[in-house]
Amino acid sequence: MKQSEILQPEAHQGKGKCGINRREFLLYSGTAVAATTVMLNIPGTAQAQEARLAQYPKKLIGKLSQLKQDEPVYFNYPDDGLNAGAMLIRLGEKAGGGLSKKQDIVAFSSYCTHQGGALAGTYNKQYKTMGQCPLHLTTYDLTRYGIVVSGQAYQSLPQVVLELDGDDIYAVGVMGLLFGRNDNLIG
Ligand code: FES
Repeated sequence: MKQSEILQPEAHQGKGKCGINRREFLLYSGTAVAATTVMLNIPGTAQAQEARLAQYPKKLIGKLSQLKQDEPVYFNYPDDGLNAGAMLIRLGEKAGGGLSKKQDIVAFSSYCTHQGGALAGTYNKQYKTMGQCPLHLTTYDLTRYGIVVSGQAYQSLPQVVLELDGDDIYAVGVMGLLFGRNDNLIG
């Protein structure tokens, strides 16, 4: 893939190769309240979220050519601190916020939003879910921005925002609060 195919959605008005730009990701993954406030042009909403994303580090987490379907790649993001573990996965089917032409590459926190249960190793390739959580059985749908399918949690699994630069896959932000943190950027 050429350098010109770098996905920097905010630098383009149109969609990138992944079919979704960062602003759209914010809107799609945000709440109805957020969408409403964007329409009303109230400060502290999507624009503020986008500015917030700019504060995250850009970290290389994988290679597009080496990522195999349904084989998780684990990494830490945005730092190596509390509950920073996350999972990169090629689902093999289109997903919200998905990277690549097929929009099937996503990444999520590996810690349950309920009480921080460890989700690493619970990826279910048949249903494209994380879980069941070993503590209280929550399951998250990775094709739909990590929404809760069942169980005790009531917040979606934090989704790592991805960018593609040639063959390199970068983590560039997190949508949602990592369990146990008051701020994702203060580990
Ligand atoms: S900690 Fe995962 S469901 Fe409670």
